[in-house]
Amino acid sequence: MSLEFHENVSLKQYNSFGFDVSARFFAVLESADQLNDVRAFAHDNDIEVLFIGGGSNLVLAADLDQLVVVNRIKGVQIVDGQNGEVLVTAGGGEEWHPFVRWTLEQGVYGLENLSLIPGTVGAAPIQNIGAYGVEIKDRMVSLEAFDLETGTQVCFDCCDCQFEYRDSLFKSRFPGRYLITSVTFALSREFRPILHYGGISQQLEARGITSPEPVQLSDLICEVRNTKLPQPGLLGNAGSFFKNPVISVQQAEQLQKDFPQMVVFDDKPGCSKLAAGWLIDQLGWKGRREGDAGVYEKQALVLVNHGEATGADIIELAGEIQADVYKQYGVMLEIEPRCYP
Ligand code: EPU
Repeated sequence: MSLEFHENVSLKQYNSFGFDVSARFFAVLESADQLNDVRAFAHDNDIEVLFIGGGSNLVLAADLDQLVVVNRIKGVQIVDGQNGEVLVTAGGGEEWHPFVRWTLEQGVYGLENLSLIPGTVGAAPIQNIGAYGVEIKDRMVSLEAFDLETGTQVCFDCCDCQFEYRDSLFKSRFPGRYLITSVTFALSREFRPILHYGGISQQLEARGITSPEPVQLSDLICEVRNTKLPQPGLLGNAGSFFKNPVISVQQAEQLQKDFPQMVVFDDKPGCSKLAAGWLIDQLGWKGRREGDAGVYEKQALVLVNHGEATGADIIELAGEIQADVYKQYGVMLEIEPRCYP
């Protein structure tokens, strides 16, 4: 099937902030076979390509003079291995949360803690999505991607992807170069719940659940997320707007002396991670609004579009928050979503 290209298309429904910017050219990709059409079109029109998934980690600050391609490559496949290990492959355009719930329906476990994360399977490795003690890198075996530069299909093993906290080679080294067509996960028929993180075990206890069923755990994660994070359909947002900053243990210890309540987590050797939400909250930003750009009232790490904010308004607000946090704590917050143009 050949690909249809459209001109001057509004991206409002394709980004979770709901910014009403347009793409000069636009196409919806249904199959990996169509990727050579994308490459040819970009070459013929001398235009850059921007691949997007669910648009849930994007700040679109102005109209894009690009070819925007939405990945809708679908399909799921399960292959049982030995000792209860299961390999599950999903198309890059599958929506993440329905995919997680589908794995549970198949009696395949390992992704429960990543329930309700917005976006698509193909976008998930780009920022190494994570929640409640699990990151996609802990479950991924490999992925297939189309290389826009060479026009070839490439396979990356997990260790090739240079995964870090909310980062990968696709985000930091080669932004825009690859479209992830499918991802393969190593999951299990045996349920081994991870409950130690973010008060999950206490929440289960409070509900009188001592050993949760997989779906119960997924439901609880959804419930917890819904109390902290706005639903993009109701209030435009891109989840956490800043990364939790990783600093040296020495700097963290000094900060804790100055601010004894500061939330600090252990990180890789020699490093500590601070809760950016706590830093922003302490400075009184939670619930604040500048026009329609605001800080979510229940979680200071989330910036929201109350209606007519533009991406530029959100970036301006983010800049004020960064400056304020830096002034008070000497720590520079890094913006987490990808910003265009
Ligand atoms: N906190 C505050 N005030 C706030 C927000 C947080 O004091 O307004 C404190 C909390 O009380 C807690 C600490 O900061 O002590 C951490 O907060 P929380 O547990 O809500 O998690 P987070 O660090 O804000 C991270 C991820 C989320 C993920 C959760 C759970 C990042 C940037 N964010 O949030 O991921 O769901 O942990 O694992 O790492 C995302 O990436 O978009 C995202 C939502």
